[in-house]
Amino acid sequence: MKRDATDWPSLHLVAREALRFSYAPYSRYPVAAALRCVDGRVFTGVNVENASYGLTLCAERAAIVAAVAAGAREFTALAIVVPGATPASPCGACRQVLREFPPSFAVRSYASRGRPLTTTTAALLPLSFGPENLAPSRKRKPRA
Ligand code: THU
Repeated sequence: MKRDATDWPSLHLVAREALRFSYAPYSRYPVAAALRCVDGRVFTGVNVENASYGLTLCAERAAIVAAVAAGAREFTALAIVVPGATPASPCGACRQVLREFPPSFAVRSYASRGRPLTTTTAALLPLSFGPENLAPSRKRKPRA
């Protein structure tokens, strides 16, 4: 198995520092994410709720959006943090959005204490539908 070279303590710290920016007045469940790109850049995301509840954006998708808007599309690791006792498990919508950007990368979800939940984007969404299904002859999408 490939060795995981991610500096998880520093990615965890970046996510923890972003937690204070979470906007979660309705659920009172703050979440932050730190997404590491192959070029070493790290983008953060927080959950952003809305008075029209269904418009809530999760921290994981916010991090992906920030990265893609800065030109990054290849990722190595995602740290997720919540202040509570149980690590968050990404919702179905986030799993699909994370899966959009292969290859699969590592995901580690931390609570305030205890062991984090460690997985990969591939494991989070088995038998998934992705860009290759739409263009089977193309493994990677062009950059523009
Ligand atoms: N949430 C995330 O941001 N990420 C997760 O992995 C789980 C759920 C957010 C959405 C909403 O703002 C709040 O947590 C409660 O569901």
